[in-house]
Amino acid sequence: MDVLLIGSGGREHAIAWKLRQSRRLGTLYIAPGNTGTARCGQNVNIDDTDIAALVEFARAKKVGLVVVGPEDPLAGGVVDAMVAASIKAFGPSRAAAQLEADKAFAKHMMRSCAVSTAEARVFDRFSDAKAYIASRDEPVVIKAAGLAKGKGVVVCDDPADGILAAEKIMVDKIYGAAGERIVVEDKLLGEEASILAFVDGHNIYLMESSQDHKPIGDGDTGPNTGGMGAYSPAPLVTDAMMQKISREVFVPIVDAMNRNGTPYKGILYAGLMMTSGGPRVLEFNVRFGDPETQPILMRLQSDLLEILLAVCDERLDEVTLKWDPRPAVCVVMASGGYPEAYEKGKVITGIEDAEALGEVVVFQAGTRQQNGDIVTAGGRVLGVTALGRDIAAAKARAYEAVARVHFDGAYCRRDISDKALRQ
Ligand code: AMP
Ligand code: GLY
Repeated sequence: MDVLLIGSGGREHAIAWKLRQSRRLGTLYIAPGNTGTARCGQNVNIDDTDIAALVEFARAKKVGLVVVGPEDPLAGGVVDAMVAASIKAFGPSRAAAQLEADKAFAKHMMRSCAVSTAEARVFDRFSDAKAYIASRDEPVVIKAAGLAKGKGVVVCDDPADGILAAEKIMVDKIYGAAGERIVVEDKLLGEEASILAFVDGHNIYLMESSQDHKPIGDGDTGPNTGGMGAYSPAPLVTDAMMQKISREVFVPIVDAMNRNGTPYKGILYAGLMMTSGGPRVLEFNVRFGDPETQPILMRLQSDLLEILLAVCDERLDEVTLKWDPRPAVCVVMASGGYPEAYEKGKVITGIEDAEALGEVVVFQAGTRQQNGDIVTAGGRVLGVTALGRDIAAAKARAYEAVARVHFDGAYCRRDISDKALRQ
């Protein structure tokens, strides 16, 4: 079966790498892909939000399945467009993708089925938001309601900073239309975990737990990024906690989406804060996480293509998920300066040396080919991912691999997975 994968990040390289292992896979096309996905299939020069061109391509190539990596095409209705053209597509409909694309909708849905989340208010006018924040003497979290490339969230310990953040988003429009509406919520305390599930409308299969590292600096300091590293499993999420999360988060929200007339199919990703009062939802994403996908898929032993097809056909109960018991750690190597301005076009060397260590895959994110070299083309450049007999061993191997890879100005956190070691 030929497959079209949409997207171009580290997540898509990991999905392409895993799909490549399927016995049923024929040609894999990736639109637009990167230098890493080109190792697993054929890159196609179509922008990941050009839905008409993607449908046309999928139809012309008679692909058996379209797999959507990022949120933007999902929120733009790419799955609806494929299905209307009688092409099987993995991911939620445009209406269901609102769970990520509209944080006010997500809050509304969570309230409707009593899923635990931070108390929140929604504002369309800056003056109202300002008055509300000023009336409270507590830390607040300001969130652009729309899609802002994972960056539209500001955690403010001082309410005055909250007002400034709201002004930047609503008045200065630093995230454009995504910030016309904001959500102001209470700051939650605890450690974070990401739980992803395959959902076929009714059946819910939780994947192994993982933990992202959002801030740029060691010890979770500095501004938030798209994610500087991840590991799986996250020891703070015990089996009992997984069952609680399934029962108290996934089951009610999937039911609520059905009742709302927006049934959910695809990956559902819950970003959770493990508070002293139990797990509470920080956000939903409607896709695989980046970089969590890299360690998660490195541990998945089942055939990903079979699982994705089972989700599309609403027969997820016919497949089983098998996991490598060994943990995996992914260290993101970023361009110096990221998440602010950074330079591109730096030659990358050492990827093969790193992978020669064994049980290591260097997933590529912001890379492109230039005169026979692989060069940097984005903020997050590589996700160096390693398996190990325990987290400490996986971490040691991942950093050993990182040491073999070079490009000018490369930056990575040095403490990925240390939180797990402290557990
Ligand atoms: P989100 O994109 O909504 O997951 O937010 C990005 C990051 O902001 C999360 O991973 C958390 O670190 C932080 N965050 C979001 N909401 C809250 C909250 N209510 N309390 C504390 N931290 C939060
Ligand atoms: N790792 C967070 C995200 O994919 O949004």
